[in-house]
Amino acid sequence: MKAFAERKILLSNVGLIDPERIDDYLERGGYGGLRAALERTPADVVEELKESGLRGRGGAGFPTGIKWEFVLKSRGKTRYVVCNADEGEPGTFKDRVLMEGDPHRLIEGMAICGYAVGARRGFIYVRGEYALSIRRLERAISQARERGFLGRGILGSDFSFDIEVRAGAGAYVCGEETALLESMEGKRGWPRIRPPFPADHGFRGRPTVVNNVETLANVPEIVRRGAAWYRTLGTADSPGTKLYPLSGALTRTGLVEAEMGIPLRTLIFDLGGGPPEGRELKGVLVGGAAGAFLAPDELDIPMDFGSLRRIGAILGSGAVLAFDDTACVVDLLGSVLSFFAHESCGQCTPCRVGTAVLVDLLARVRSGNGDASVLDAMRRVTEVMEVASLCPLGQSVGLPVGTALEKFRGEFESHLKRGPCPRCEAATEVHA
Ligand SMILES: Cc1cc2nc3c(=O)[nH]c(=O)nc-3n(C[C@H](O)[C@H](O)[C@H](O)COP(=O)(O)O)c2cc1C
Ligand code: SF4
Repeated sequence: MKAFAERKILLSNVGLIDPERIDDYLERGGYGGLRAALERTPADVVEELKESGLRGRGGAGFPTGIKWEFVLKSRGKTRYVVCNADEGEPGTFKDRVLMEGDPHRLIEGMAICGYAVGARRGFIYVRGEYALSIRRLERAISQARERGFLGRGILGSDFSFDIEVRAGAGAYVCGEETALLESMEGKRGWPRIRPPFPADHGFRGRPTVVNNVETLANVPEIVRRGAAWYRTLGTADSPGTKLYPLSGALTRTGLVEAEMGIPLRTLIFDLGGGPPEGRELKGVLVGGAAGAFLAPDELDIPMDFGSLRRIGAILGSGAVLAFDDTACVVDLLGSVLSFFAHESCGQCTPCRVGTAVLVDLLARVRSGNGDASVLDAMRRVTEVMEVASLCPLGQSVGLPVGTALEKFRGEFESHLKRGPCPRCEAATEVHA
């Protein structure tokens, strides 16, 4: 059996280099991937990405090489690369660490992407609150231009590419790729109906690659060291390493990088140090707010796309939020639902109304106002939202609701019978 520990590839420079000095990055082999890419044809680079099996780290896990191929083969000369750095998922703080700690890795990944798909312009759409990320990226972009890694005729080739940073304005839904593009075009950040997908009809209607920060940060090493090397990491279905943000009731919270497929138990107990002394692990919310609640008997699950799918969960952003016996699951689900109700953009009725109805139904459970039919009503609302909502925000609320009700049903029933528990009353005081 494989022994898992931290494995730093994307984070290999973080904390060791000065992110504001390009020479630090260059001394550690930086921009070697871009040099290697420019010696090959764009189609070759796309093929390498396809062979590597890299899957998008923004949540959906779409194969990156296939996305790039769509854009490379698209009609029309104007194409764009957009890096999704909106990172609004609760409990997720991985892209921020990359942008603050090693911004050139992302810039290099974007330049390689631009070369591979035939784009001349790239944008990084950064969460507005990430002031330090924005500052470091802008500084890194200007240093890269000075050294000939961005701009006209990169490294003496006939490839020209430049990058601009755009700041978001605080809406979670603008992390959804089509809402992000609307926002970048100066419009209200409402998701578009898909298809067409951005690879076909993206920024200003042109073919556009939209990739997450972590996805693009994988690219330089893949091009430099090859797809075969990359496939030695992780699993056949999910090659490579993954950044896992650990938060909640753990002795050591923070960001860790490990090979895909690391068991959740290893993340929680070995890397996260387990729950604080004297406390017991009660469960884990995996994949972000739109992820799945898992019970302690599910901790042996490998943390990769396929394994989590097989048990009806998702890898999502890779976020791991642990909670112990002092937490109330009804209260936790309440926070998740309030978040969705607040962040629903309101464009479509199932999500706009559905999220508000779910908040009300959960308030009834919490205060002991009703019977098991309230829980059935919650499920029915999420079923409608899943099929009728316009974008994945509304479609995915059913996962946290369904898994919380399934795995911690006793706790919901006991609230219905007895009203608020001492743990959720304590949490109410904290929220107030
Ligand atoms: C509500 C919502 C929020 C999202 N937020 C982000 C985000 O902050 N960062 C991100 O990369 N992807 C986010 N996504 C996923 C993007 O729509 C898209 O799948 C991703 O940027 C594609 O990049 P990838 O293929 O590299 O994963 C979000 C999706 C939804 C539905
Ligand atoms: S599902 Fe929600 S977030 Fe998505 S378009 Fe509809 S209202 Fe907006």
